[in-house]
Amino acid sequence: MTTTPTKIPTGNREDEIQIYDLHKSFGDLEVLKGISTVVHRGEVVCVIGPSGSGKSTLLRCVNLLEEPTRGRIFILNEEITDPDADVDFIRTQMGMVFQQFNLFPHLTVLENCTIGQTQVKKVPKDRAEKIARENLTKVGLGDRTDAYPAQLSGGMQQRVAIARALSMDVEMILFDEPTSALDPELVGDVLAVMRDLATEGMTMMVVTHEMAFAREVADRVIFMDGGVIVEEGHPSQVIGNPQEERTRTFLQRVLDPTHSNPGAEDAAHARRHGDEEEADEGHLPDPALRTDAPPRGRLF
Ligand SMILES: Nc1ncnc2c1ncn2[C@@H]1O[C@H](COP(=O)(O)OP(=O)(O)OP(=O)(O)O)[C@@H](O)[C@H]1O
Ligand SMILES: [Mg+2]
Repeated sequence: MTTTPTKIPTGNREDEIQIYDLHKSFGDLEVLKGISTVVHRGEVVCVIGPSGSGKSTLLRCVNLLEEPTRGRIFILNEEITDPDADVDFIRTQMGMVFQQFNLFPHLTVLENCTIGQTQVKKVPKDRAEKIARENLTKVGLGDRTDAYPAQLSGGMQQRVAIARALSMDVEMILFDEPTSALDPELVGDVLAVMRDLATEGMTMMVVTHEMAFAREVADRVIFMDGGVIVEEGHPSQVIGNPQEERTRTFLQRVLDPTHSNPGAEDAAHARRHGDEEEADEGHLPDPALRTDAPPRGRLF
């Protein structure tokens, strides 16, 4: 399956992120070599691939933290690669959750979730606090609003970062390895929050090494290598039955065959997406691969 658009912009409001022939070089190093794809409203797209393949650079270009060398990107049909683009407005539509949380250490959890609202969106303070409390409750931290980031575990800090993004009432959230910096026992809580967001219909682009999560939650998986999309499609296809040799080699490296029980994620995926027949045929989940179970740590 490919989602490469034939026309950019598509003009369709459901096409929230449109990327066309995106190139990015750092000096002589060409990191992105022509990436094209569309992320639809409510879609969860997991981006996988080896270190250095350009996954972070892709997300950073979408969020304009990096300036593309060539190509065009549209967010909600607004061209962000247009020099006259209203970048501030576009950024308010898009949350970004990084590996390293990026919370303000001198602000409380509540203040971390209100500062963007009051300063960027000019939301009155009491309303901003109400929104922040709702979102902190949603990520399971309603009782930690007065804590400072340093008083929280990494997993809690990452959930604050997600609550902060939600408090900006964003249309979409980009995640760059949100669980990679966490101790293994803290990964599950963060993935559970992300799974809930996916269920609620948040548009998500997730760079991740958590293959079990990708397999269960993603609507589409993109495998990148060497700055190009090598393969993309349904997770059961890209992870379960990859067509390209490069994808197979990568997956063999990251998936531990002694623990693999791919049927568990496919069954969970089917349950999430309402395909009961497929779910009924699924195997019992292997606890080692359940994304809410204590994970086995970063896969590579
Ligand atoms: N600001 C920069 N200046 C120079 N080179 C960069 C810069 N950012 C990234 N690169 C290079 O671009 C390539 C792709 O980096 P990127 O961080 O996008 O990879 P990645 O797929 O996210 O890898 P990882 O899985 O390790 O996070 C790497 O060779 C990296 O060294
Ligand atoms: Mg990266």
